[in-house]
Amino acid sequence: MGHSFDGIEEYDNPLPKWWFMLFVGTIIFAVGYLALYPGLGNWKGILPGYDGGWTQVKQWQKEVDKAEQQYGPIYAKFAAMPISEVAKDQQALKMGGRLFASNCSVCHGSDAKGAFGFPNLADQQWRWGGAPDSIKTSVLAGRHAVMPAWGEALGETGVQNVAAFVLEGIAGRKLPDGAKADAAAGKALFASNCMACHGPDGHGVQAMGAPDLSKPAAFIYGTSFSQLQQTIRYGRQGVMPNQQDFLGNDKVHLLAAYVFSLGQSAVEKPRAE
Ligand code: HEC
Ligand code: HEC
Repeated sequence: MGHSFDGIEEYDNPLPKWWFMLFVGTIIFAVGYLALYPGLGNWKGILPGYDGGWTQVKQWQKEVDKAEQQYGPIYAKFAAMPISEVAKDQQALKMGGRLFASNCSVCHGSDAKGAFGFPNLADQQWRWGGAPDSIKTSVLAGRHAVMPAWGEALGETGVQNVAAFVLEGIAGRKLPDGAKADAAAGKALFASNCMACHGPDGHGVQAMGAPDLSKPAAFIYGTSFSQLQQTIRYGRQGVMPNQQDFLGNDKVHLLAAYVFSLGQSAVEKPRAE
């Protein structure tokens, strides 16, 4: 251009063609985009298939509707079959496993074996019953277990004694060395305070969700002497959230079959403790 600054000269080189075309392309794209999608003021866009303009919610709803259309008949087919039959169908178990992973594993674990406060669903110990329909009811309607707090009624010594009886007399485990507790006195306390829910031998009552205290492997709040005292002193209230409105009957039916199948395979090959 004839300019020169401290020995640096200015030239007039045209932009590379591809670069220029890309630039024009972005402008054309922007015009098309802004016509189809909402992006300018309160212009709603004219994307076909979205009455009144595209929104994220409408797109999500469309995808959900499509999935319902695709899978609805499959869910409905399984929902019409008895759970014990569904539990033998490989496709159903696959779908149930996927539903479990996204809706249940946060609490029950990805292997369904539970965690502190959350029961193992892959064994044969059931708080509310392991029959197919009981499992379905647990999931569909939810469960709320109420183990009352006994600290005030029994006092500190009472709590220790009855915990000792549960540990030794029912669960069949040893008290820790040096523990000062009278399991015989605990037995009397158990008979007058705990039997109504846990049953005369402590084997539990499923209608109340009161667990079998002779199966410590299935305890969800711990089996040490101090954890037992904690449970008895302050009580426990496990809540299984109701899935009726969230997942609905057909998906829960499939989940019940999946959970039932886990328990069944536990019968076939007992798990090492
Ligand atoms: C009103 C009924 C009721 C009474 C009475 C009751 N329990 Fe319970 N108990 C329950 C229920 C329901 C659970 C399950 C709580 C949960 O899952 O959150 C439970 C849980 C327990 C657990 C924990 C088991 C685990 O999974 O970790 C222990 C231990 C226990 N009870 C001992 C006792 C003792 C000892 C007494 C008497 C002092 C007693 N319970 C009285 C209903 C009762
Ligand atoms: C927010 C945590 C949470 C989620 C999510 C959850 N659960 Fe539970 N579930 C629990 C708790 C806690 C209990 C135990 C209630 C009690 O103490 O008795 C339970 C109990 C159960 C029981 C009864 C077990 C028995 O021993 O009788 C079944 C069956 C069950 N859940 C299945 C499911 C399925 C299937 C899903 C997925 C849709 C699911 N749960 C999601 C917390 C959860």
